[in-house]
Formats: sequence, structure tokens, C-alpha cells
Amino acid sequence: GEGKLWGGRFSGGPSPELEALSRSTHFDWRLALYDIAGSHAHAKALGAAGLLTAEEELELHRGLDALAERFTSGRLRPSESDEDVHGALERLLIEEVGPEVGGKLRAGRSRNDQIATLFRSYLLDHGRVVAGLVLDLVDALAGQAQTHLRLPGGPSIMPGRTHLQHAQPVLLSHHLLAHAWALLRDVDRLGDWRRRVESDSPYGSGALAGQSLGLDPELVASELGFTASTANSIDGTASRDFVAEFAYVCAQTGVDISRIAEEIILWATKEFDFVTLHDSWSTGSSIMPQKKNPDISELARGKAGRLVGNLTGLLTTLKALPLAYNRDLQEDKEPVFDSVDTLEVLLPAFTGQVATLVYNTARMAELAPQGFSLATDIAEWLVREGTPFRTAHEVAGACVRAAEAKGTDLDGLTDEEFAAISPALTPQVRLVLTTEGSVASRNGRGGTAPDRVAEQLEELRARAGAA
Ligand code: ARG
Repeated sequence: GEGKLWGGRFSGGPSPELEALSRSTHFDWRLALYDIAGSHAHAKALGAAGLLTAEEELELHRGLDALAERFTSGRLRPSESDEDVHGALERLLIEEVGPEVGGKLRAGRSRNDQIATLFRSYLLDHGRVVAGLVLDLVDALAGQAQTHLRLPGGPSIMPGRTHLQHAQPVLLSHHLLAHAWALLRDVDRLGDWRRRVESDSPYGSGALAGQSLGLDPELVASELGFTASTANSIDGTASRDFVAEFAYVCAQTGVDISRIAEEIILWATKEFDFVTLHDSWSTGSSIMPQKKNPDISELARGKAGRLVGNLTGLLTTLKALPLAYNRDLQEDKEPVFDSVDTLEVLLPAFTGQVATLVYNTARMAELAPQGFSLATDIAEWLVREGTPFRTAHEVAGACVRAAEAKGTDLDGLTDEEFAAISPALTPQVRLVLTTEGSVASRNGRGGTAPDRVAEQLEELRARAGAA
């Protein structure tokens, strides 16, 4: 066990096969600076408990600073024989400050409380990064919504769909903001998650039972930016719901993005022709010169599957795992690192694509009234004129049938034809047979009327600004 953290009771070194299986430095090395920060805080706690002289503590801080500097400039690497980031850093610290002082740092801590703490610190930082990137996407959607709300010719109107069938006309801005609200909830979720994680620093939990050296876990917690330390040392070392919850928010964000992606892919087809992709945010084909492909959206759609897989894998690892720490828990890192990496590379590209999309508003406006999407407007107009809704629904349905038979849309029916269907259908009904009239009439809170959507946009921006 030369250079190992646990050589004492073993007569021979580990087999190379075991080392190969056990090694985690290829993925946990990214936690090095967090481990070093934990060691600084732990050295303070050891000093405060009288377990280090002031000189020893200073020497440890100096050695740790030297390691951090070498890490930052890319000159600190684990060796083949290092098992994990913790062991590697202890070995390197001892090289830096000597075995006498360097050997004192491990007192009162275990890799179990170390990893549980610094993994939280890592996710707290990247949670902030991911939230910022999601807010950039919210901002891009809000920017497009604002543009299409304030066009000189009036707000852009599109066919709103249910079951992918024409349903009712809506403002393009209203549709875009629907995606933005979903993404804002993902940012909210990260905030909720943060409040739980920030107040739960496991340092001091030891391997599982706590420590006996009179160390102050609250001191370590506050040094590391946590508001409190863990109340139960077993829970502190064995729980990974904070990882799964983070992975869930990543997966949900991926799923929310994939729903926008799917629409962009559809909208960019010849058949829809709703959007044109910006050249810098789309790709060509190596064989078909005419192609312009929505690769960013396709990758987003694909990567959503990967994000869901990471969550599923994590939960499967955690299921039925007995307390306290089990080595299975080493499998918690790669999936969530992958989720972080995936979102940090996906979101900037996706936001660029969304921000630069050019909408074919003439085409959207032309299709908006088709498919009898104003039938509900007839029914609701009749209700406002005093007809019971059951009857109004029947009458509006009869209008659809008549228009379909005539081969026109609803406004292609003559006044006489309307009157023949129902005497309640006076020529005034034509007021709601325009898409502009239809959207303007849906003026309750949350509705697609331009004034309501303008308010909604402000509300979204205020919430996003406060997130
Ligand atoms: N590399 C380990 C992990 O990621 C650190 C904790 C190891 N603890 C132990 N007792 N083997 O979970």
C-alpha cells in the first residue's frame, strides 16, 4: 500500500485489475479545486480544535494553495497509482509540505464526508451556470416574443394546435412565451434545490458516525459557503437525493428544450415553412447541396434522451442501497457530470438558434384561420348574444359542416347561409371571423389577446430578473 490511503492492514498491494476497476481519477479530477477548498476549511477546523499548531496550519494552507495554482495552470495531474482525487491530492500535498505536516490533514475526516460535501459544492456552482444559461434561453424567447408583439402590421398570429390539428389562432408571442414559462420553472427548481443543498454540509460526518476530535462542522460549512452542517452523519454520507434531484432538473430542462426543438424541426420543413434557420445556426449536407438542416434542434432532441438516461441510471444505482456509504455511490458522478456538460454545451447553441430564427409571419397568418379554427369564436359569440353554449356549439358545428360542403372557410358562408343555419347568426358574427378579432377576444388573464400577452411578457421578465 505504498502511497495509498489504506495500506496499513494489507500485506500486499492491490491487483492491477482491482486498481483499474477502482480508479476514478479520470472523472473525479474535475473536483480537485473543491477538494482543496474542503481541505483548507478542514485545516482551519483542526487548527481551531488545537490539533495543529498555527505554523502547521499555515504550512498546510500554503501547500494547498500551491496545489491549487498548479491545478489551475494545468500542471497538476493524478498518477496511474492514485485511486481517486482525494488520495491523489493527499499524495501531492505530502510531496509539497512533507509527510509530517501533510499526514495530519486527514484526521477527523473520511473520503465519505469529503466527497459528499465537495460534490455538493461542485453542483452548487454548476447549478448556477446552468440556471444562467437557461435564463439566456428564456431571454431569447422573450426577445422574439417582444419583436412579434410589436410588428408594424400588428402582432404575428399563428395557428394554435391541439393534437397537432388546427385548434384556435394564437399570437406567436404567446406560443413562444409558453416555452419560456416552462424553462423559468426549471430555473425555479434549481433555486429550490439550492436552498436544500446549501444548508447541508456533510463535513464532520466522518465515514458515517461523526468525528471524535472536537472539530466544528459549522465552521467548515461556513468556510465552504454552506449555511449549516448536516444534522445526521449517516444521512450526510449516504444520501444522494441531491444528485438525483439535480439530474432530474437537468432532464426536465432537456425535455422542455426538446419540445421547442421538435417544433423548430417541423416548422423548418417545406410543408410548414414557418421558420428559416440562420446560416450560422444550421448545417448543410455533404451530398445534397440544397440542404439546410436543423441539427442543433435534432441534437437537443437527442440529448434530452441522454439526460433522462442519466437520471434513470442514478435512481437505479440508489434504489435499495443500504445505509450508510457503499462504493456503488462512486457511480453517482459520471451521469450528473455528463448532464452538466451536456447542458453547458447545448444551451448556448440552442439559444443562438432560437434568437436568430426568422419567422415566416405571412405564412403563419395565412394558415391561422384555416381548418375552421374560428368555430369556437362563433360559439362563444353566440353565448355572448344569449344562446346557451350547448346550442351554440351545435350551431357552430353546423357552420363548419356547411363551409366544408361548400369548400370554403367559415367566413366564406354568406349572410343568408348563416341565417339559414340559425336566426341567431346575424351578420355581426363576422366581427369574430377574423383571426385578429379572435385573439383580441381572448382577453382574460393568461389569454392570447395582445394586451394580455404584453402584460405576460412583463411578468415573465420580472420573474426572470428576480430568478
Ligand atoms: N471515490 C469515492 C467516491 O466517489 C470516494 C469515497 C470512497 N470511500 C471509500 N470508503 N472507499 O464515492
